[in-house]
Amino acid sequence: SDIEKGTYPHFMLKEIDEQPFVMRKIINEYQTENNELKLDENIRAAMKACDRIYIIAAGTSYHAGLVGKEFIEKLAKVPVEVHVASEFSYNMPLLSEKPLFVFISQSGETADSRAVLVKIKELGYPSLTITNVPGSTLSREADYTLNLYAGPEIAVASTKAYTAQIAVLAILAVDTAKAQGITLDFDPMQELAIVANAMEILTDQKEGIEELVREYLPTSRNAFFIGRSTDYHVCMEGALKLKEISYIQAEGFAGGELKHGTIALIEEGTPVIALATQENVNYSIRGNVQEVVARGANALVISMRGLEQDTDAFVIPHVHELLTPLVSVVPLQLLAYYAALHRDCDVDKPRNLAKSVTVE
Ligand code: G6P
Repeated sequence: SDIEKGTYPHFMLKEIDEQPFVMRKIINEYQTENNELKLDENIRAAMKACDRIYIIAAGTSYHAGLVGKEFIEKLAKVPVEVHVASEFSYNMPLLSEKPLFVFISQSGETADSRAVLVKIKELGYPSLTITNVPGSTLSREADYTLNLYAGPEIAVASTKAYTAQIAVLAILAVDTAKAQGITLDFDPMQELAIVANAMEILTDQKEGIEELVREYLPTSRNAFFIGRSTDYHVCMEGALKLKEISYIQAEGFAGGELKHGTIALIEEGTPVIALATQENVNYSIRGNVQEVVARGANALVISMRGLEQDTDAFVIPHVHELLTPLVSVVPLQLLAYYAALHRDCDVDKPRNLAKSVTVE
């Protein structure tokens, strides 16, 4: 399939590079000619009618769900729970009176998610699937579908589907807020266009990121990602990317949890990647960086323009504070990519992993 890859050595790199275009595609698909949000009226009604949203997903899609919860709660003021699909039925939460189930799945085929869908349909609850594959099992069996428009994702490690999921969740949250008469002080499509440009600036800085891999992830067997608030959720995704394809043992932690255990693992030279894109936690995450540096960590700080400090290794362009995951994840995807490449790993087809897991 060299033809499909074009000039790219790997699908993953191609898919990372496609992210700005996917953002622009989503902006076009979810907007009318009069610049109004365009969304299936039935979905709008279901979002308005429910009293609580239950997001069900696995892997990277679960990480997108954690960011989506923030959007929906902060903008539309609807309570949201996010559940790992495989765990949902063991400890099924006490459901609200009018739940809406939202399945996030790149492939639309994940068996664990489908098992939850079958169960909640038996209980008579409404469902929405957000997927990259309209016509997939989860899309056909749910009441409603939102398309990610990311185009086929071939690399096992998900990149453009994650950012597409977050963008569509942002649009869904804004639309629900508007449907409820909540006024927002920003134009989501304008902000997503700024995000697309920021992503493009980052995908043009591959050499700089490859250099960071040489400096911070040379021969390490482990790496930690720390962040607070939104950054914490992106850290979980950054760690998943790194472990999936480079086999470096990687974990994403909330900055405040470090001192409750993980800090015991910090030794001379341990790589710690810290995200600092949120103004309200910038001071606290910087404190965590100092704590690990004092114990010998090799700290790579990725901050956002406006919040940066002189010692930061990498600064991403400024975007709307809710949308930073769309941009901060790009250097993390590229870090994982080059770490895997330098270790001669099979970037697109990591050992033991499948693109879609169709067994429970
Ligand atoms: C597999 C893939 C992951 C993906 C997860 C959920 O484990 O390797 O990249 O995040 O399944 O897949 P889904 O298609 O439901 O988003």
